[in-house]
Amino acid sequence: MARSALLNVMVQAALKAGKSLSRDFGEVQNLQVSVKGPGDFVSQADLKAEKIVHDELMKARPTYDFLGEEGGEEKGSDGAHRWIVDPLDGTTNFLHGIPQFAVSIALERNGEVVAGVIFNPATDELYTAERGSGAFLNDRRIRVAARKQITDCVVSCGVPHLGRGNHGKFLVELRHTMGEVAGIRRFGAASLDLAYVAAGRLDGFWEAELAPWDMAAGLVLIREAGGFVSDMKGGQDIFGTGSVVAGNEYIHKALSEVINRPIPGR
Ligand code: IPD
Ligand code: CA
Ligand code: CA
Repeated sequence: MARSALLNVMVQAALKAGKSLSRDFGEVQNLQVSVKGPGDFVSQADLKAEKIVHDELMKARPTYDFLGEEGGEEKGSDGAHRWIVDPLDGTTNFLHGIPQFAVSIALERNGEVVAGVIFNPATDELYTAERGSGAFLNDRRIRVAARKQITDCVVSCGVPHLGRGNHGKFLVELRHTMGEVAGIRRFGAASLDLAYVAAGRLDGFWEAELAPWDMAAGLVLIREAGGFVSDMKGGQDIFGTGSVVAGNEYIHKALSEVINRPIPGR
């Protein structure tokens, strides 16, 4: 499997930040038992990982824009390219010692995501995709699952929580989905949910109120794995709406219909 020079830069940045997160994750497991907990330490781990990714990417392409969750938007002179980075997706998992988190790096060209890397250092799983070249988990080519009936499917979602999201709307989506599928999961790192759909582990995924850095790398992975992605209304304004539905051709359609079903009697 041949990677372009740009994808190699992204992979190196993700592996380097992943190493730093891995070290800090070990410390989080110790801090779990302290009264103060690992909160401040995790914020530092997050910032450190973003600095590593930022420095690696900007060293290779100093003129590109950079959008990172922690540091916000930094404008470059290039005009066509933008890095979109979540240095630690799945912070709540990380904070609680749960090994489901990732570094997520995407490259956007003229408003379209053209390459993506998602790395979970706790499992050593590296997901990569470039437009037109397929999607990979480590060195293995991946494809979305082939199931056609939603009743056979395991799907994941995001669950709103204290101070976040529209609880009532989500409960309606959940109520309709749980009556149609074989299982629902909530893993807590949106980038990895998308990567799991690309790898055929999950048949579908939906979530609202996400940011571009949660989704960007995952979008190209899904498309290159033969899957479909849209916003929750069926359009392509995924970053604008902050919502996403993913699956193969059949499940993407079926899941979109189910989560948008009106409440009976209204
Ligand atoms: C969060 C995770 C989570 C999703 C949240 C995101 P963070 O990102 O992706 O799965 O449900 O909405 O904000 O805060 O851990 O980078
Ligand atoms: Ca995130
Ligand atoms: Ca984050």
